[in-house]
Amino acid sequence: MDVKSKKKLVIDVCLSPALYPVYHRDDTIVVVIDILRATSAMCTAFHHGVEKIIPVASVDEATEYKKQGFIVGAERNGIALEGFDFGNSPASYMTEKIKGQTIVISTTNGTQAIDVSRNAYKVVIGAFTNITALCDWLKVQNRSVLLLCSGWKNRFNLEDTLFAGAVAEILLKEKDAFHYGDGALAAKFMYQAAQNNPYKYLRNSSHTERLSAMGLKGDIKYCLSLDKTTIIPILEGKYLVKM
Ligand code: MLT
Repeated sequence: MDVKSKKKLVIDVCLSPALYPVYHRDDTIVVVIDILRATSAMCTAFHHGVEKIIPVASVDEATEYKKQGFIVGAERNGIALEGFDFGNSPASYMTEKIKGQTIVISTTNGTQAIDVSRNAYKVVIGAFTNITALCDWLKVQNRSVLLLCSGWKNRFNLEDTLFAGAVAEILLKEKDAFHYGDGALAAKFMYQAAQNNPYKYLRNSSHTERLSAMGLKGDIKYCLSLDKTTIIPILEGKYLVKM
């Protein structure tokens, strides 16, 4: 189908899961973004052989799954919770232990964003670590795209919006394929200001400071690195699976 005959699609950015109901459209693909670190960790887990991931919004659900014998990663406020197998550091998912397994993950923001957007046409996981594969796939879906930033406890955060801007810039190069939403426009301009050195641009952001104070600068650098995997996790029922 040539670009002319394609219907005008919209790419927009939802800056917080709390705003999702305003943006929800039945026909739209949602990309859940939690760069530091949930969606980066999920992409890493798939790249290292995990079979499925069950994202759960509450610690109680994570505890139930742990009791049933599942491998569980649980984090709140950037800290790995006691009594579980992993926190939310992508490095901890670079292990044979998860190969072929179904694991459970619960995080402060990322799994909440997945939870609120379950009724979307499709929900996929985006991170800098799978950005090219993700954008190549989005370009050929002929669907509008909502970039859902997990933020921090329903507040705006910089890193998720930066990633949304990077995706918007890539998709908007597809001439005449997409309309900008204002959120996509703003995120794109932000990304253009940061793209030469995202780490420096983010140095004073709240979660970068929080993670740096915990000695997790390595996680930040990894989560800002491009194309560590070509895997796009997609939600099928309660599971995230490899597309
Ligand atoms: C989140 O879900 O907000 C983040 O992944 C938290 C973190 O891992 O530091």
